[in-house]
Amino acid sequence: MQNTNRGSFGGKLGIILASAGSAVGLGNIWRFPTEVGRNGGAAFILVYLCFVFFLAMPVMVSEFVIGRASKANTVDSYHRLAPGKPWFIVGYLGVLGGFLVLSFYSVVAGWTLHYTIASLLRQLTSGRDYGEFFNNFVSNPWQPIVYVALFLLFTHFIVARGVQAGIERYSKIMMPALLAIILILMTCSLSMPGSREGLRFLLHPDFSKVTASVVLSAMGQAFFSLSVGIGCLATYASYFQRDVPLVSSAFSVCFIDTLVAILSGFIIFPAVFSVSGVEVDAGPGLVFITLPNVFNMAFGDVPVVGYLFSGLFYILLLLAALTSSISMHEIDTAFLHEKFHLSRPHAASVVTAVCLVLGAACSLSFGSWEDVRIFGMGFFELFDFLTAKFIMPLCSIFISIFVGWVLDRKLVRSELTNDNTLHIRAARFFVFLIRWVAPFGMSIIFLNELLS
Ligand code: ALA
Repeated sequence: MQNTNRGSFGGKLGIILASAGSAVGLGNIWRFPTEVGRNGGAAFILVYLCFVFFLAMPVMVSEFVIGRASKANTVDSYHRLAPGKPWFIVGYLGVLGGFLVLSFYSVVAGWTLHYTIASLLRQLTSGRDYGEFFNNFVSNPWQPIVYVALFLLFTHFIVARGVQAGIERYSKIMMPALLAIILILMTCSLSMPGSREGLRFLLHPDFSKVTASVVLSAMGQAFFSLSVGIGCLATYASYFQRDVPLVSSAFSVCFIDTLVAILSGFIIFPAVFSVSGVEVDAGPGLVFITLPNVFNMAFGDVPVVGYLFSGLFYILLLLAALTSSISMHEIDTAFLHEKFHLSRPHAASVVTAVCLVLGAACSLSFGSWEDVRIFGMGFFELFDFLTAKFIMPLCSIFISIFVGWVLDRKLVRSELTNDNTLHIRAARFFVFLIRWVAPFGMSIIFLNELLS
């Protein structure tokens, strides 16, 4: 039976900002520059853009169709749309994905919270060994876990308030703040001497760097960045009103997400290149080891600007993390709330508690549990790998097959055209991408990586 008391988003702006908030996150500001730095710059970005618009966006549209047509959490949506069939397993994988992403995500968000406070308290001063500062902090057995807990509590507070009073309201405050901070930081970064080299790295492709593993990394990054494949956008779409245009909303979300990722590159690489001797492929430490160094070296003459720059940068990262973590939390909260009839605050508490335990395991994998390896990976690395390179691509393949081949065509068309009130051409194009391009494209890349 359809639950008529579910929350819903109030307006289109709220929907775009909340969905873009789900997409814009650490993936854009921390993971994207890391992947760009490791995989050769502009060539990686071009491959990434193809994945965003030809594979991930059709999956996003498919999730919107599933969510709005079913008006249910990610597991029940399959029960409703394909009763008696095993498609609900995709929903359960999404629930698992939500827990895993939120757990390792909270660890990086916790580091960000620590760095925000440290920059504002002027602890990231020059002369410090930033590598040692970072390693001492992340390998500490309890300190990072306290930050994980704090971050999860912020997330919990927003989700427990509900769809309109929590998610939509806070997204409307946080997303404009995030965009304003990006513009300020980008202007500062581009005005640094030597920033041109950074722009070159971002804008001149070197296709010799594009290998099969770079292609899979670009696909994983596109899915991770757009939050597709784990039912997060389907859950949000289950709160959309009937007049929301699904295709153009998905386009706006993809556009904002890509813009933020590229603008983050415009903040980070010009700054990194303006300081000689700093590596661009420093991996996950780029944002926590390389950048404080860069901020200090670049603003050595006017330290207060350096503090402000780094403080604003980590606030930006924190806001981005929060807008995404609420959407991961919502997948599981909505599921527990509807499936087990828990009140929303109780369902949210269960999710927060589980993620705290899993997040603590991820955090300890940088310190005392460093030797605990599963398939050769610590918990943090394993959760990241399982979600970005396994659950998200695999579920995305199933989601596009489900919408393209299993769901009733009339239902899909009426969702994409809002009951035939919108233009049919874009809908037809998306049906083509969802049926033919997305499942086959994703399967080839996914199987190629699995077999190699
Ligand atoms: N989409 C979220 C991000 O990019 C998970 O960080």
